[in-house]
Amino acid sequence: MSTANNMGTALVTGASSGIGATYAERLAERGYNLLLVARDEQRLQRLSQRLQELFGVTAEVLIADLSEARDIERVAQRLRRDQQISLLVNNAGVALSGSMAESDRHSIAALLQLNVLALTLLSSAAAVNFSIAGHGGIINLGSVVALLPERFNAVYAASKAYVLSLTQSLHAEIAHRGVRVQAVLPGMTRTEIWQRSGMTLDPSFDPMIMEAGDMVDAALRGFDEGELVTIPSLPDSADWQNLLQARMQLAPNLSHKQPAARYA
Ligand SMILES: NC(=O)c1ccc[n+]([C@@H]2O[C@H](COP(=O)([O-])OP(=O)(O)OC[C@H]3O[C@@H](n4cnc5c(N)ncnc54)[C@H](OP(=O)(O)O)[C@@H]3O)[C@@H](O)[C@H]2O)c1
Repeated sequence: MSTANNMGTALVTGASSGIGATYAERLAERGYNLLLVARDEQRLQRLSQRLQELFGVTAEVLIADLSEARDIERVAQRLRRDQQISLLVNNAGVALSGSMAESDRHSIAALLQLNVLALTLLSSAAAVNFSIAGHGGIINLGSVVALLPERFNAVYAASKAYVLSLTQSLHAEIAHRGVRVQAVLPGMTRTEIWQRSGMTLDPSFDPMIMEAGDMVDAALRGFDEGELVTIPSLPDSADWQNLLQARMQLAPNLSHKQPAARYA
């Protein structure tokens, strides 16, 4: 049991289940007051009550459907106006099963609204305020499928590649203003996202599935250590550094006046 302190308020999207609910609990344990955002009011109220009782923090519920422009703007406004907010966890997300060709256009549009547009507009609202304050943190939930786009639904994988790219760019733009940014790339994690998107987790996948608590604990450890990109499953962080280095080696040759000789 801890009491509320001066950590400020963490706004967690998708806090009603899975990874988001776990972030809410871990952050309350660290003494953050909470703003819990999702659509399911009952679940959010239950979580809010439990965390307030357990950790002595405040936990406000903010009902929003982040696939709707009006609700995104309402939450963004809160981020712009509430100077107590010191951390944004952009966690709400949906997945799609099967291939892009099999996905209906409404589900594709809803996924992009939530996984891409809401995350971008909320990051932008937070970035403005945190930059002015000279501190604050933005944690964006990506996925390892950003690195393995061939292994998952094309739209979901592309949305998570976007999250990784946005976070890397945002870091370059605002780190010098004292704002911490992190992309978290979980592998398979045991949550409702699988059933929600019509997939079943075959028991043969068990060795690859992390519990949400372990995933979030590792991600927060990465955040504490100042990592820009955290891949909780990756045993050797040198493998990620090597990939980054290979990418940066391309940089001097990515823009030239003439096409490469092989295209002449
Ligand atoms: N589980 C995995 O294997 C895995 C792996 C890599 C990345 N991730 C990412 O982790 C994040 C959390 O997913 P999870 O696994 O914890 O899934 P989850 O248990 O299904 O949780 C998703 C959360 O998003 C909220 N949400 C869904 N649609 C929403 C909408 N339109 N507006 C507002 N909130 C909405 C849900 O709440 P309501 O239904 O109450 O709105 C729920 O709280 C996602 O971004 C996901 O892509 C998950």
